[in-house]
Amino acid sequence: MLQAGMKMCGAPPVKARRVSGYPRHNRNFGLTSRICRVKDGAWCSSAEREVMLEPAPLLEIDDLRVYFKTDEGVARAVDGVGLRVDSGRCLGVVGESGCGKSVMGLSILGLVPAPPGFVAGGAVRFRGRDLLSLPNREMRRVRGREIAMVFQEPMTSLNPVLNIGDQIVEAVLAHQRRLRRREAWEMACEALASVGMASPEIRMASYPHHLSGGMKQRVMIAMALVARPALLIADEPTTALDVTIQAQILELLERLRAEMGLGVMLITHDLAVVAENTDDVVVMYAGKLAECAPTSRLFDNPVHPYTRGLLASIPPLDGSPGRLEAIPGMVPRPHEFPSGCRFKNRCRWAEAICDEEPVLAPIEEGHLVACHLVARPALTRRDAGQNRPCDTGAI
Ligand SMILES: Nc1ncnc2c1ncn2[C@@H]1O[C@H](COP(=O)(O)OP(=O)(O)O)[C@@H](O)[C@H]1O
Ligand code: SF4
Ligand SMILES: [Mg+2]
Repeated sequence: MLQAGMKMCGAPPVKARRVSGYPRHNRNFGLTSRICRVKDGAWCSSAEREVMLEPAPLLEIDDLRVYFKTDEGVARAVDGVGLRVDSGRCLGVVGESGCGKSVMGLSILGLVPAPPGFVAGGAVRFRGRDLLSLPNREMRRVRGREIAMVFQEPMTSLNPVLNIGDQIVEAVLAHQRRLRRREAWEMACEALASVGMASPEIRMASYPHHLSGGMKQRVMIAMALVARPALLIADEPTTALDVTIQAQILELLERLRAEMGLGVMLITHDLAVVAENTDDVVVMYAGKLAECAPTSRLFDNPVHPYTRGLLASIPPLDGSPGRLEAIPGMVPRPHEFPSGCRFKNRCRWAEAICDEEPVLAPIEEGHLVACHLVARPALTRRDAGQNRPCDTGAI
């Protein structure tokens, strides 16, 4: 799934470490497994490397930086993010509002408004192709046909004066121009049926205001998937929905992912959604990655103070009583990020070393954290017993 500040391992020699008996969550997990594999501490031969390396990822983001020029200065909304999504797997991207999740998602499809936005550096590769350098015409072909996006608010994404059928047919014909309208209509009906819409033929004649929020989101998903893309970016797809409908939409995404082998990037501020629906997760804070891990591991062993703060602020699933904690303060605005660790103004464990910027470093296979307290063992073992982020048994 992920990385940060690390180079992908396209060119030999690749240092490799054999990983055996790895649980499901880590089977295809990320860059760490791709770049760190060391076979008995030695370089491996190219043949061995071929066997040991996982298939090429669907999407790779490497050190991506997306900034905005504003009157108040340059806003570094996404500032050095690296991650990976594989076919058939779901990567959760989680963080508070304003952390850069949507800008990161939009920049994959070249949808960041420019100006004021611009890509200041990094790479976005889809099936090995660099999306950032694609001409507009080719990028339009990628959108929808290979990578689709579903947004938070379906009402603003649907055209209120066209019926549902016409809107889905338009999406079908945009990608398959040789189809006759009748065939496109049938495909649209099938797409509606596949997202669990009852009586799809009747629904085709409905207008958006006839539909509930959940139905509208199903229509958006049907439109997104009608061209059978390989990757779906779902940006807060359930935030505007009540919990029952939210569960139905997430189940639908899970089913479509299994049936179509779809890679999914699920952007959300909701850790409960991440826990239930993703294989791997990256925690974003102030335009950077704070922590990345297979989902089960992140929840079993959250290490970064920000991740721990997020988890402490949601009610426990077992219903045990106790006061919920809030992370003090707010995410800084992107042109006002503090130097050093961007979380330091809100972190109860901050100390002098935190004026230096922490790097995202592995603490165990597939689990990376950007925090000085976990990256420096001497520091972490001092003050043991005060329930600091490092006192988790992870290191
Ligand atoms: N068009 C824009 N102009 C200036 N700043 C923007 C623009 N779009 C987003 N930003 C800023 O980028 C930061 C990240 O935004 P966003 O990705 O939407 O956050 P999230 O999705 O995590 O809530 C925010 O501080 C936001 O103000
Ligand atoms: S680097 Fe320092 S300020 Fe940042 S999260 Fe770690 S302890 Fe807190
Ligand atoms: Mg957002």
